[in-house]
Amino acid sequence: MNEILKKRVLTPVTKEIVVSAPRIARKAQPGQFVILRVSEEGERIPLTIADFDREEGTVTLVYQEVGYTTRLLGKLETNDSIMDLAGPLGLPAELPEKGRVVAVGGGVGVAPLLPKCKELHRRGIELISIIGARSSDLVILEDEMRACSNELHICTDDGSRGFKGFVSDKLKQMFETGLNPDEVDEVIAIGPIPMMKATCAVTKEFGVKTWVSMNPIMVDGTGMCGACRVTVGGETKFACVDGPMFDGHLVDWDEAWRRANSYREQEHIANERCRCGGEH
Ligand code: FAD
Ligand code: FES
Ligand code: MG
Repeated sequence: MNEILKKRVLTPVTKEIVVSAPRIARKAQPGQFVILRVSEEGERIPLTIADFDREEGTVTLVYQEVGYTTRLLGKLETNDSIMDLAGPLGLPAELPEKGRVVAVGGGVGVAPLLPKCKELHRRGIELISIIGARSSDLVILEDEMRACSNELHICTDDGSRGFKGFVSDKLKQMFETGLNPDEVDEVIAIGPIPMMKATCAVTKEFGVKTWVSMNPIMVDGTGMCGACRVTVGGETKFACVDGPMFDGHLVDWDEAWRRANSYREQEHIANERCRCGGEH
């Protein structure tokens, strides 16, 4: 059992919890994730390690309540416990030692982006960050992102805050109006599949290497079940052990989108049960 030591509500649908997990905290690196079960009979879901404190023995998770299990997790309060947490899983992100990076985060994707940005800042990298959400009340971790960025741009789809439009539109505008793509060493883009796909289309046009963090359905998280299969550069990769970070220009986005939506009907049914307070 892993105790929740702190809980913070970031937006009406996004929560941050600090969980006691000394062995995971000791080994965690930016880019890695955990797989947790809320309760004994619960499903396993992956969440990125948004932060860790080796001394305190804690990991921080930021999650958006999108369905049955994340809603169940959202009901737990400080001093409650999560059944189990496995990790750290996945490869640590390969981050540059010097230069200039643009970090692009969409929605809850800002949570997995943050640990990489903190590490880039620690290494003295010049960091330009673009974060976005559907509306201003859904923008998360703004202060934390500002603290590690040289420049922070905020975008909302409805224009209620900052640039009106998608983060990919903002990046394109910046490339067209002064940000020299030749002076950007790489872009890191994390968020929903359509957002990462659109961002990669922009960076491909301007010739800037781009890392994305793939978020396919995962079950075991150890490379054995094959659920998290993604095609990258024509090769089959397992996001849990070969990723989750990949070269975004090589990802087969249409296949990733199809696979992510495979269980929509079942997820909808489970979600409706959760809303009504029912069991699995
Ligand atoms: P459901 O209604 O069951 O599913 C909603 C959607 O979530 C699905 O359509 C599917 O796209 C995705 N999903 C469902 N089950 C899984 C599963 N077992 N594995 C992966 N995706 C699934 N979300 C966050 O909010 N914060 C994070 O830091 C974060 N990090 C992630 C890191 C990785 C490596 C991966 C693969 C996913 C991450 N996610 C993160 C997504 C998160 O795992 C899903 O939102 C969650 O599993 C949804 O479960 P649910 O039962 O609440 O919703
Ligand atoms: Fe099973 Fe990756 S989650 S192989
Ligand atoms: Mg689910």
